[in-house]
Amino acid sequence: MKVTIESISTDQLDPLQALCIATFTETYGSQNTKSDLENYLETNFNSAQLKKELENPQSEYYFVKVDGAIAGYLKVNVGDAQTEIKEQNGLEIERIYVSRAYQGKKLGQALFEKAMERARFHKTAFLWLGVWDQNTNAIGFYERNGFKTFDTHVFQLGDDMQTDLMMKLELA
Ligand SMILES: CC(C)(COP(=O)(O)OP(=O)(O)OC[C@H]1O[C@@H](n2cnc3c(N)ncnc32)[C@H](O)[C@@H]1OP(=O)(O)O)[C@@H](O)C(=O)NCCC(=O)NCCS
Repeated sequence: MKVTIESISTDQLDPLQALCIATFTETYGSQNTKSDLENYLETNFNSAQLKKELENPQSEYYFVKVDGAIAGYLKVNVGDAQTEIKEQNGLEIERIYVSRAYQGKKLGQALFEKAMERARFHKTAFLWLGVWDQNTNAIGFYERNGFKTFDTHVFQLGDDMQTDLMMKLELA
C-alpha cells in the first residue's frame, strides 16, 4: 500500500467536492436531520466556496491517496483564514477526513503529520481545532496525538445548536 499526500489545486475542485460531501455525510449523516445536513453541505461545499478556499494562500488542502486512489483530505488554515482565534502564531486543522473504507490504516495519522509539518513550516507556536463533542472517535484520535481541550464553543448545524470542544497542541 503506497500512501502519498498531495497538495490540492483548483483544477481538482470536483473530486474534492465529492469527497467533502461523502465524508461529511458518512460522519454526521446518521446523527443529524436530513435538512440540517443538506443545508450544511450546500453552504460549505458549494463550488464557489471551495474555489475561494482553494485560491486562498492562507488555506491549504491536501489529499491522502492509497495507490493513487483518493482516500481522505486535510484542510489547514493560518493567519486570517483561521475560522476563530486568528492568532498569527496558530495553525488551525479545520478538516481532517478519511473515507470510512480507509479508516484505521494510519492515513489520519499521515494527514496529521502533514499538519505538523505545515505548522513547523509556518513557524506557528501551536495547532488548534474545533471538534463536535459527540465525535468521540475524532476526540480520541486528537488526544492520542497530544491535543488538550481548552474551551467549548457553540457550532450551528442547520437549525441545531451543537457544542464543539476547542483543542490545542502547543509546539515545543
Ligand atoms: C479521526 C480520523 C481522521 C482518524 O483517522 P484514521 O486513519 O482512522 O486513524 P489512524 O489509523 O491514522 O490512527 C492513528 C492513531 O490514532 C489512534 N486512533 C484512531 N482512532 C482513535 C480513537 N477513536 N480513539 C483513540 N485513538 C484512536 C490509532 O489507534 C492510531 O494510534 P496508534 O498508532 O498508536 O495505533 C478518521 O477516523 C476520520 O476521518 N473520521 C471521520 C471524520 C472525522 O470525524 N474527522 C474529524 C472531524 S473534527
